[in-house]
Amino acid sequence: MRTIAHLSDLHFGREDERVQAALVAELDRLRPSLVVVSGDLTQRARRRQFEACARFLRALPAPALVVPGNHDIPLFDVLRRFLSPLGRYRRYIADDLAPLFEDGELFVVGLNSARPELWKDGALSPEQVELLRRRFAAAPEGSLRLLVTHHPLKARPGDPEPAITRLGPEALEVAGRHVDLALAGHLHMGYLADVRPTGEGARAVVLVQAGTAMSNRRRHEPNSYNRITVDGDRLEIAIRAFREDAFATRETLPFERRDGAWARSES
Ligand SMILES: [Fe+2]
Ligand SMILES: [Fe+2]
Repeated sequence: MRTIAHLSDLHFGREDERVQAALVAELDRLRPSLVVVSGDLTQRARRRQFEACARFLRALPAPALVVPGNHDIPLFDVLRRFLSPLGRYRRYIADDLAPLFEDGELFVVGLNSARPELWKDGALSPEQVELLRRRFAAAPEGSLRLLVTHHPLKARPGDPEPAITRLGPEALEVAGRHVDLALAGHLHMGYLADVRPTGEGARAVVLVQAGTAMSNRRRHEPNSYNRITVDGDRLEIAIRAFREDAFATRETLPFERRDGAWARSES
């Protein structure tokens, strides 16, 4: 059995200290196997914001797999934005922009989708899509396979201004052959979707979107994170939202593995 805490959009610099304290207490209680942070660690990619985030990550009761988001690239400091877009991220948070976590039961790959020339939308390169294919092709049989990006690979259904990720459909097609869950953030909205990529051998991928875990950049919904629990052929994804002074389950969605792919179960 494994438990993953999927956090996103921490936005240090715009953190809500009350929510942060509740989140730290929640994670200390949960003791997850892994914490995933799907980007936007800071508000403006400032040194102090990265330092505060690094302190937060170091104090976590579990290993963390982290990818950068668009806010981790400077916006107004144009020189730094183009000459060293992720310099501070790499210095303070992690040098590896394609992190891998594996422990026999979990196989998790992160990819950087943030680009200095794009602000709102993200992108993957053909090399990253190839890396995705190669890494997951070597994943141990029976492990839960997760892909982590900041930008969603597929737009939210009905979104009037969808965030577009270049090569998102190509990555999704590869994911449909190898990946169980695709975790992302950026939209500050927590929801799940079952996406069905096309292509030979493709099957459903569960798209898991996290809200903003603790920033005050809330968009019509409270702060939240996702608690993902896998136990053999059963998977449960709970959206844990901040209410009053603690995190509580807003929605729980159970899945079961049928014919090698995850499908929603009734109980
Ligand atoms: Fe964000
Ligand atoms: Fe973002």
